[in-house]
Amino acid sequence: MVSYKDLGLVNSRDIFKKAMEGKYAIPAFNFNNMEQLQAIVQACVETKSPVILQVSSGARKYANQTLLRYMAQGAVEYAKELGLNIPIVLHLDHGDTFELCKSCVEYGFSSVMIDGSHHPYEENVALTAKVVEYAHKYDVTVEGELGVLAGVEDDVSAEHHTYTQPEEVEDFLKKTGVDSLAISIGTSHGANKFKPEQCKRNEQGILIPPPLRFDILEAIEKRIPGFPIVLHGASSVPQDLIAVINKYGGAMKDAVGIPEEQLRRAATSAVCKINIDSDGRIAMTAAVREVFATKPSEFDPRKYLGPARDGLKELYKHKIVNVLGSNNRA
Ligand code: G3H
Ligand code: 13P
Ligand code: ZN
Repeated sequence: MVSYKDLGLVNSRDIFKKAMEGKYAIPAFNFNNMEQLQAIVQACVETKSPVILQVSSGARKYANQTLLRYMAQGAVEYAKELGLNIPIVLHLDHGDTFELCKSCVEYGFSSVMIDGSHHPYEENVALTAKVVEYAHKYDVTVEGELGVLAGVEDDVSAEHHTYTQPEEVEDFLKKTGVDSLAISIGTSHGANKFKPEQCKRNEQGILIPPPLRFDILEAIEKRIPGFPIVLHGASSVPQDLIAVINKYGGAMKDAVGIPEEQLRRAATSAVCKINIDSDGRIAMTAAVREVFATKPSEFDPRKYLGPARDGLKELYKHKIVNVLGSNNRA
């Protein structure tokens, strides 16, 4: 058993409380390799932002759980070396079983998500309550989910959104004891969040997606005032980066995300955590494709992963300062 406290990590309780009071959201950036972690830590130290390092079960398999734990510990030390001891959470993204959540708690995670949203309500409640009971013994915070996002969540895919039902949230919180709640209000995972026929097009032919359901978010906030809400599937899919990818041989067709002004609005509400993965993948891919296309003789990975890391860092700084508002809150 490794306690996250010995690694210098924190759970999400305090940073969510401050985010709620200060009307901003904490970035939850997914990572599974060194360049991503460097970009996250550099961006967060330079902007003085707390951060949630997020690991999916697929990422845990890809990178190895022992390596990931030491990488998170390394992130804490690296931030100090860069000059600021920012709060860092190591969080399991979309945990799907009690055993996986338990194993993460034992391997030094400070926060876990148990995503029972694909199960019938009572099963979701029972599974989530079991994880909370275990995790709280070690002061590890737990995120639950109500409502299903359209798109792909690890191995589970859903064709349509099932929006969170506001009338379920109080009962869910009471029966499970979760510390935060992920909701479904129209976001989805990945780079193609909406089908073209669900969108309008502006004069330049860019797809304009349907707006998020802020009415549902407000109804939820009224029922559980001051309770931290989490927004998954919150990438914006920057069209300038998609253009770079497609210019240099990529084929990302009809990619569309959540407009940043809507995320900015969400960040000032009870939404305390905003999950961004796809935008980081897009930023890295754009940079790598550009190097491969413009410098075809290059074969040193540092020559393309370095620019990918730089692009990623710029993206994260932009999100922190211009979208989430978590800068100067560390
Ligand atoms: O919610 C999904 C995250 O973007 C993680 O994706 O399962 O491909 O690592 P992944
Ligand atoms: P995106 O695919 O929109 O980046 O969402 C990431 C996410 O929700 C991770 O849990
Ligand atoms: Zn997610």
